[in-house]
Amino acid sequence: MSEVVSYNREGAIGVITVNYPPVNALGHAVRTGLLEALKQGQTDSDAKALLLVCDGRTFVAGADIREFGKPMQEPALGTVIDTFEDSDKPVVAAIHGTALGGGLELALGCHYRIALASAKVGLPEVKLGLLPGAGGTQRLPRLTGARKALEMITTGEFVKAEAALEAGIIDAVAQGDNIRTVGLEYAAKLVDEDKPVRRVRDINDKITADRGSEVFKEFRKGLASKARGLFSPFKCVDAVEAAFTLPFEEGKKRERELFMECMESPQRDGLVHAFFAEREVSKVPGLAKDTPVRDVASVGIIGAGTMGGGIAMNFANAGIPVTIVDVKQEALDKGLGVIRKNYENSAKKGRITPAQVEERMALITTSLSYDAFKDVDLVIEAVFENMDIKKQIFSQLDKVCKPGAILASNTSTLDIDEIASATSRPEDVVGMHFFSPANVMKLLENVRGSKTSDEVKATVMAVAKKIGKVGVMVGNCYGFVGNRMLHRRGAEATALVNEGASPQQVDKVLTDLGFPMGQFAMSDLAGIDVGYSIRKERRKAGEDIPANWMDTLAEEGRLGQKTMAGVYKYEEGNRKPVVDPKVDELIAGFRKEQGIEPRDITDQEILERCMYVMVNEGAKILEEGIAARALDIDIVWIYGYGFPAYRGGPMFWADQVGVKTIYDTVKRFHDTVGGDQWKPSALLAKLAGEDKKFGDL
Ligand code: 3HC
Repeated sequence: MSEVVSYNREGAIGVITVNYPPVNALGHAVRTGLLEALKQGQTDSDAKALLLVCDGRTFVAGADIREFGKPMQEPALGTVIDTFEDSDKPVVAAIHGTALGGGLELALGCHYRIALASAKVGLPEVKLGLLPGAGGTQRLPRLTGARKALEMITTGEFVKAEAALEAGIIDAVAQGDNIRTVGLEYAAKLVDEDKPVRRVRDINDKITADRGSEVFKEFRKGLASKARGLFSPFKCVDAVEAAFTLPFEEGKKRERELFMECMESPQRDGLVHAFFAEREVSKVPGLAKDTPVRDVASVGIIGAGTMGGGIAMNFANAGIPVTIVDVKQEALDKGLGVIRKNYENSAKKGRITPAQVEERMALITTSLSYDAFKDVDLVIEAVFENMDIKKQIFSQLDKVCKPGAILASNTSTLDIDEIASATSRPEDVVGMHFFSPANVMKLLENVRGSKTSDEVKATVMAVAKKIGKVGVMVGNCYGFVGNRMLHRRGAEATALVNEGASPQQVDKVLTDLGFPMGQFAMSDLAGIDVGYSIRKERRKAGEDIPANWMDTLAEEGRLGQKTMAGVYKYEEGNRKPVVDPKVDELIAGFRKEQGIEPRDITDQEILERCMYVMVNEGAKILEEGIAARALDIDIVWIYGYGFPAYRGGPMFWADQVGVKTIYDTVKRFHDTVGGDQWKPSALLAKLAGEDKKFGDL
């Protein structure tokens, strides 16, 4: 008998139970066990119908992703599902939690499906660079018709039980909470009513109705912009279309071929890496799993600007009361106004209800006095980047806040230890670096100071999860992980334009790589003055940062989107960057002034200088222990800067390009151009020398 799938009989029902924590994924043992248990059910003459149900938190959540890329061990999932469908006793799938990917495909191979009201179903393979490869693209449209199947398969979004019932994916929604009881009752009823087997593969009315429909063309057109650069969404459409053009068995064969194309694509590798990396970052090396976590039931925020307001929204969304403090009532009123507008826009788009707008607004209060922070569990400072001001604020917080309150700074570059030194409790001080727009971007870089306690580290990681962010723990250095690498890229991109490239050429190389926007479109979004004031501070501190054309832009008041002109120009009500000949003139003027003879710069040089400089810096970040693992850097970039997840993040991308290729180029730039940014990282050199990857660390 299989250890992970069991068979027993209850009355006239043969029950097949899967018990393979955490999510009952369809690994080899489960697939084998399912076939064995089904056989037992078939030969058990007292079983009139069979019930497939799962123990633990969920129904089967898909194929076992850990088996991808390894040789397939028989039986294949498709065979298991076909065998279930072939059964001459009716089989009922009883769904709780989530029936996803291969899990939903297995349920579609059963003859009836019932789900708890809290359950969800979906085919999220596309998010892993795949398509449903065990009959899902052929069976789902037979139940839902073409449009719904395309929607579900090309987006991977989950569908709640009620909506799944409406779409024809399941046959009933149960109100109970014990899935086994509910399933047994349903199966017993089928037996009483002498219901026959009902195979999805034989249901053809919706196939006939949608054959030749324009919907496939429509989806391909929509994906051309929505899924730019991605491989598998288009293959998903091809596979679903095959259900309408080929008989079932041939359609399945076509699905298999397309599935294998996706499986072999580097995008699948990148997306699977991103899936596991996202889960790994929550396990911080060196931080014991049982570290106590402080309760965070109320939060204070300093600064009612864009950042402070965005941060406040995250907590209100999670039902946690927030108090925002600023120096002027006007700033508070303006900040609250922006928050309300953001919520109202979400309500207009149907993402939240008008009642939720009010509930969330009611959780946000304001004050002009730090006394409002007397009882809060966590304070996040979000004022502009100035060390003296931050130190003053933290010394005041130290006086006002209760013992055990966590004092966090949203600084994006400054030294957390120096900020902490302004308090008598550096163990309670930590960085919580949100990314703009803070209510949208999923990354939270949690920065540990040298004295931050483990309890505080564990708490801020838990807070990230609670407010729906992906928290990554990083060390304290200039710019931490994300901005330290970004500033290297920014300086290189700016230098490339100094030397002869155009800003739009640089941006295009980056968007072609899959970034949602290029370096300069991003500078316009963030504000040209941000980088300018950082450079000014660093020059003041004695750093050798040569003059560049971006400084000239800032000095001329072209501050980006907020002034409708920066590197690009903008039209009223439109965020699309438009090339501005005035900027070309400004750049030409700058080059002349500096005596620079512009040269033709190839896209390859742009790619190497913008990306390899980041990889080299990333390697230094690893060497110094600022990031614990290459995957932490990958997640920072995917969730903080829109690095294309299908390339797995910058360090995973570097492994795909080849560490040695990158090292050789970095060394060549160091020997020819020079500069600290091109000094090869010792770790990069070591990996290149040993023919290893970041993934091997
Ligand atoms: N295979 C292997 N491991 C899986 C897995 C899977 N399909 N799904 C989740 N896990 C693991 C996670 O890595 C994690 O492991 P860890 O504890 O060691 O870090 C653990 O299960 C719990 O996962 P989460 O932390 O994500 O738990 P949540 O409760 O937040 O979410 C979930 C549960 C909604 C099931 C989420 O894990 C999920 O979305 N999983 C992926 C589902 C999926 O993509 N399925 C399709 C797979 S491809 C397929 O089926 C191909 C087929 O068509 C042939």
